[in-house]
Amino acid sequence: MPNVIILNGPNLNLLGTREPEIYGRDTLSDIEEKCRFHAEKTGLSIDFRQSNNEGDLVTWIQEAASRSDGIIINPAAYTHTSVAILDALKQVDCPIIEIHLSNIFSREEFRHHSFVSPVAKGVICGFGAQGYLLALDAISSVISDKEEG
Ligand code: DQA
Repeated sequence: MPNVIILNGPNLNLLGTREPEIYGRDTLSDIEEKCRFHAEKTGLSIDFRQSNNEGDLVTWIQEAASRSDGIIINPAAYTHTSVAILDALKQVDCPIIEIHLSNIFSREEFRHHSFVSPVAKGVICGFGAQGYLLALDAISSVISDKEEG
């Protein structure tokens, strides 16, 4: 079964109470549970993680490079600042999907730029928690295409 790592960046541990009008009322645990249920139906095994530290995310990306068949990442604020995360992702062969709960392009100007997008297969944003499930569907089809191809 393909293994997908789902990485979540800073402040996403506060989902549920953090600006719910922007990020919704689901907690990160609710999202993880939805992902587990969906991944099982889709035939993927998942490893779901969150950290407030840039270095943890870099280390997990480096580990995923040899262990995972796909990476789904919501880098949160590091999206807009982190060359370290970009550099780590550049060393990865498997498909990468970038996700955001909110539509970053309808928000402040500084959120319009992502360091991660240039190395992502695709970007999903603006669909709230549902975006994680869309990303699982997308990565599942990208992985199957790669296996067949
Ligand atoms: C976010 C969008 C980022 O701009 C923000 O810093 C976050 C969350 C999202 O999921 O919408 O923390 O990645």
